[in-house]
Amino acid sequence: MRPRLRPAWLALALCAAVALAARPRPHVLKRRNPTYAALSDSSLDHLVALSDLDDTLDWSRPDTPLAKLLVPRPVGSANLTRLQAMVEGHFRDLGWHVEKDSFDDSTPYGTKSFTNLVFTHDPSAPRRLVLSAHLDSKFFPTPPEDQFVGATDSAAPCAMLLDLATALTPWLDARKQRVEDGGGEEGREGQGESLQIIFFDGEEAFKDWTHADSIYGARHLAHKWGATTDHSPQPVRATPRSPLRRISHLVLLDLLGAPNPLLRNFFVPTGWLFDEFGHAEERLGLAGYLWQGLDGDAYTAKKGETGARERSFFVPRGSGVSAYAGQIEDDHLPFLREGVPIVHLISVPFPRVWHTIKDDADALDLPTIKAWALIIRLAVAEYLGLDPSAPIPNLNSPTEVKRDPSDLILDV
Ligand SMILES: *[C@@H]1O[C@H](CO)[C@@H](O)[C@H](O)[C@H]1NC(C)=O
Ligand SMILES: [Zn+2]
Repeated sequence: MRPRLRPAWLALALCAAVALAARPRPHVLKRRNPTYAALSDSSLDHLVALSDLDDTLDWSRPDTPLAKLLVPRPVGSANLTRLQAMVEGHFRDLGWHVEKDSFDDSTPYGTKSFTNLVFTHDPSAPRRLVLSAHLDSKFFPTPPEDQFVGATDSAAPCAMLLDLATALTPWLDARKQRVEDGGGEEGREGQGESLQIIFFDGEEAFKDWTHADSIYGARHLAHKWGATTDHSPQPVRATPRSPLRRISHLVLLDLLGAPNPLLRNFFVPTGWLFDEFGHAEERLGLAGYLWQGLDGDAYTAKKGETGARERSFFVPRGSGVSAYAGQIEDDHLPFLREGVPIVHLISVPFPRVWHTIKDDADALDLPTIKAWALIIRLAVAEYLGLDPSAPIPNLNSPTEVKRDPSDLILDV
């Protein structure tokens, strides 16, 4: 991705955003997933124990997925093909539905082949929460840059998504079973939303970033899904006919894994979900799950300390205007343009090593990566209402959640 900073424009964009915030359309004021429910305290302990984070994320062990991802893997390379197969195998072993979106496109280096990988826990669910990242690394034609491994961009985010699937599959399976045991059509309604994980190909520009030379995979998938109408019989009457419309939210991870990230909210309508990631961080931190030997008040004190590794990853909404508001081009754009609600989890400012040969293992911080994995795990489990100790919500009479007035504040 790249920042696209044009100060003159920015003023204009901010005015437009203020106008938008002042006159919200009613439909952006409600949560679209009535399943959202905070996890009970006892379930929080179980959630954290669902996977051994080191098995996926400790890159000092050569057999872990993150260690394997830390190689140059530009579009069309044998390395990328091998890693796509590894990722696919990971999801097949977990029993997820696999969709490979392969296509050719022209690039500054001629026609290239691309493959997006789309994994869905329950493809029969009418809606999907999407978590996503790009698997390709930026292509550099000459040494030493041709050994660029993109550790934060986006090897670490991809590894986090592998852990997310490992950890949550038993809870997703259990929830599906409970819904099915609950009975028939009505049970299917309760199924509501499933988890979908997308690994985009061709995010990076081959040369200098332009609209034609960037986000090849995301552009292809958003266009394909926007143009597709599914005429097959659906288990639930209200199922949207376009795969694009089935996405309730698309969460995009990028440039994560270095210590001291700073995450900002860029989109007012999804500010509530951005906040939920922050709530997940706070809850895990207070319980002592994020930073060894730090919990409760000691955690709270560190959370606000500038420069501390344990400082909060999230910039509170409403605490000033970010110069980057809506100015970062990344895989979310083709979906945003189609009206898909977006949460962009990207560190701004970008890690210092961004698009340099130094974006390698030395740029990563294991405790930070493990904290990210747990934060994402908790927020997704709550979003999908996966708590095994909670009753299955009845979606046949969805309730509208009253929005917090602070959602109307311009907060980017
Ligand atoms: C594939 O990965 C190896 C390291 O395992 C690296 O030396 C090689 O340059 C990579 N190939 C390409 C085409 O990037
Ligand atoms: Zn990049």
